[in-house]
Amino acid sequence: MNEQRFFRFLRERIGLDVESVGAPMVERALRQRCVAVGAVDLDHYWLRLQQSADEQQALIESVIVPETWFFRYPESFTALAGLAHKRLTELAGARPLRLLSLPCSTGEEPYSLAMALLDAGIAPGAFLIDGMDISPSSVTKAGQAVYGRNAFRGSNLGFRERYFDALDEGHRLHGRVQQQVSLQVGNVLDPALASRDGLYDFVFCRNLLIYFDVPTQQRVFEVLKRLLHPQGVLFIGPAEGSLLARLGMRPLGIAQSFAYVRQEGGNVPLAVAPEPARRTVPPLATAGYPPPGAPLPRPLRVLPMAPKPAPARERAREDASELLASIARLANAGASERARAECQRYLGQFAPSAQVYYWLGLLSDTEGDAQQALTHYRKALYLEPQHPEALVHLAALLASQGDLAGARRLQDRAARVGREPER
Ligand SMILES: C[S@@+](CC[C@H](N)C(=O)[O-])C[C@H]1O[C@@H](n2cnc3c(N)ncnc32)[C@H](O)[C@@H]1O
Repeated sequence: MNEQRFFRFLRERIGLDVESVGAPMVERALRQRCVAVGAVDLDHYWLRLQQSADEQQALIESVIVPETWFFRYPESFTALAGLAHKRLTELAGARPLRLLSLPCSTGEEPYSLAMALLDAGIAPGAFLIDGMDISPSSVTKAGQAVYGRNAFRGSNLGFRERYFDALDEGHRLHGRVQQQVSLQVGNVLDPALASRDGLYDFVFCRNLLIYFDVPTQQRVFEVLKRLLHPQGVLFIGPAEGSLLARLGMRPLGIAQSFAYVRQEGGNVPLAVAPEPARRTVPPLATAGYPPPGAPLPRPLRVLPMAPKPAPARERAREDASELLASIARLANAGASERARAECQRYLGQFAPSAQVYYWLGLLSDTEGDAQQALTHYRKALYLEPQHPEALVHLAALLASQGDLAGARRLQDRAARVGREPER
């Protein structure tokens, strides 16, 4: 196909697995770029792309997903504060802590790191944060440090009062937080990163690997592992952990922080199935849903009920929707028992729902009952074969049990339906 060379270009330059964002998204970007530069067709645009570094950057800008917000996965910042104190004690003043946020997108993540450390009572001189992203426009926005509503999600927004000034067009971050962070345009695939090997006590690489295919993920994990100091900690996104156990990293065991450290004994050969490592489970608040308090993003799927007079049917639909919303709220708030009871109540009153089985799977998963989780995720997929979150979570569960082929099949399926629920 005509577009394949562009897909190859994006894979080689930024690691993008086009399936992860969906070919139509990239094709749309190609059409927009053709119009922008006045190219009559894709052959013409291909020539233009070869000749212009600026156009290459413009195409990259048009396919990246800059979605981010302050204190995304809050538990990881709480974990960081504790770990940073411990590391500072070990360092005994020999040097400041060094942190890396790659990719940093528009800055919310590295600035959250800075606020978390300042909140933890760590002196500004005791830590330095590097933020890096492939997108120059995102890095420029990060440097401006003015943020709109989307950057502040969830209900715990006290940090906005402490560290921002309100402006007409948003909120401006205080200079004392900004000065903790050095921003830079850079590519995680750039071999020059090797000059920083062993430099960082904490590396945050979240929501990047989901856009890469497995070989590229593996390559990037090796890079991240090298960037880490031997005693360092790597923080990743909730759906990105299955490869790490095979690369000689183990979860730190802090719930919902997605933090990994080096494992004694190094890499496990890829051909050998590992002991099922204790798998990290995405926090309920982020598993396909915005943080607590935000509206549910996806239409509620209620299977047709037996015919009833219209008002009664309408009321039943509302009841079902309310019950689903209440399940989401309870699960997000960590009230697992009550969420489970509400799921059972739902199944007793309404037709089977993929979403309810997905929640039951996630609740079992969080409690470490992998067998029950498998059963529930499979029921969800029986009812709705393309349920994106069930696909992603079942894939992660299979991978943690060593069934890589099964996991890969589900990941491919999830990629085809637009796997990233946040988008
Ligand atoms: C979804 S954001 C993640 C931001 C933040 N880490 C978070 O979790 O909220 C993904 C970012 O990855 C960046 N990106 C994509 N490919 C990259 C690459 N090869 N090297 C560095 N950054 C990349 C994009 O520009 C985008 O800003």
